[in-house]
Amino acid sequence: MVEATPPRKRTIDDLDLAGRRVFIRVDFNVPIADGAITDDTRIRASLPTIRRAIEAGATVILASHLGRPNGLRRDDLTLRPVAERLAELLDRPVTFATDAIGAPAEAAVGETPAGGVVLLENLRFHAEEEANDPTFAKTLAALADSYVNDAFGAAHRAHASTEGIVGHVAEAGAGLLMAAELDYLGRALSNPARPFVAVIGGAKVSGKLDVIRNLLERVDTLLIGGAMAYTFFKQQGLPVGRSLVEGDLLDAAGEVVAGARAAERNVTLELPVDHLVTTALDATSGDVLAADDPAIGDRIGVDIGPETLARYATALLGAKTVVWNGPMGVFERDPFAAGTIGVARAVAHVDGTTIVGGGDSIAAIAKAGVKDRISHISTGGGASLEFLGGRTLPGVAALPDRAVTG
Ligand code: 3PG
Repeated sequence: MVEATPPRKRTIDDLDLAGRRVFIRVDFNVPIADGAITDDTRIRASLPTIRRAIEAGATVILASHLGRPNGLRRDDLTLRPVAERLAELLDRPVTFATDAIGAPAEAAVGETPAGGVVLLENLRFHAEEEANDPTFAKTLAALADSYVNDAFGAAHRAHASTEGIVGHVAEAGAGLLMAAELDYLGRALSNPARPFVAVIGGAKVSGKLDVIRNLLERVDTLLIGGAMAYTFFKQQGLPVGRSLVEGDLLDAAGEVVAGARAAERNVTLELPVDHLVTTALDATSGDVLAADDPAIGDRIGVDIGPETLARYATALLGAKTVVWNGPMGVFERDPFAAGTIGVARAVAHVDGTTIVGGGDSIAAIAKAGVKDRISHISTGGGASLEFLGGRTLPGVAALPDRAVTG
């Protein structure tokens, strides 16, 4: 059932970068409001790779997308504020090229000595980036001698800078962030220390059906929370009130449960046994009800209940590998946050490898004050879901495998 570990990719450490120009694809798709970066986590996450290239004596050419400008130049989606923040974090100048290709890019790269850093303007100002246009990929490649992909967050996109470019460079490898993401997520899927417990939550089951199916092939226990639980409830004939239900996925939910509970399967799938229900998302309190209690009436479920939290925390207690993606309820609102914060604390107490992905779970980890106690916080939203769903990420597949030695 469990697959062999996938081949390891060449990394930046396998490349000879001294005196070379290295094109590093990063994911600097950070939130920016009124020109100010509100969360620089993704910039910080690639600092080790950038520093490694600087120390190796390379001229570093960084490239990223920001938002979805659809091939148009947009002032609100310029990477200039990112160049400024990066310069502060690196404590060295960063030359900003006002275009990812052409004279601005060539001049910036040409004027930057070994050990210097250039950040190119938003790749998606050119429609050719998302179209994976070969000429655009070749033009980007011509700026450099070597290519490093550190953009795990964009690895599920087959774009010119993540996929096409690899065919036009002399040598390529994964950056340190990319390698760490693949290592943590890859080991969890192919060779996890057991027990392996996954916690999957969030609003919709539709975006996570592949993840649930794939994880059920690998985990010992899968815990489900968040509004997605109501599609499962509905399928089982439990009262859901006005909670979000994806009516077109009832059969799929039923198949998942039946598959997991089939006699020969050695996997436990748990759904909430109680929940917090309330009249509206802006209410300030709710009632705890058993999952089968019809007293929900026309109210909505907004969190798992205390009994469910206790069961989930017990399941997590002895885990050696944990993957968590998606909150247990509307945790942004304090009255409805207990389940999600409780799971965050339980994950933080695990004596094993813990991997958290998805913006909401990461925010919950921060809100619970336990960020430092998580083994790996994935920078990829869509990319980590696709990876956990068993899909091949084009940006990863394009990178050369490391030769097996010994
Ligand atoms: C992300 O934020 O998930 C990545 O940067 C990918 O962005 P995209 O969904 O616009 O391709």
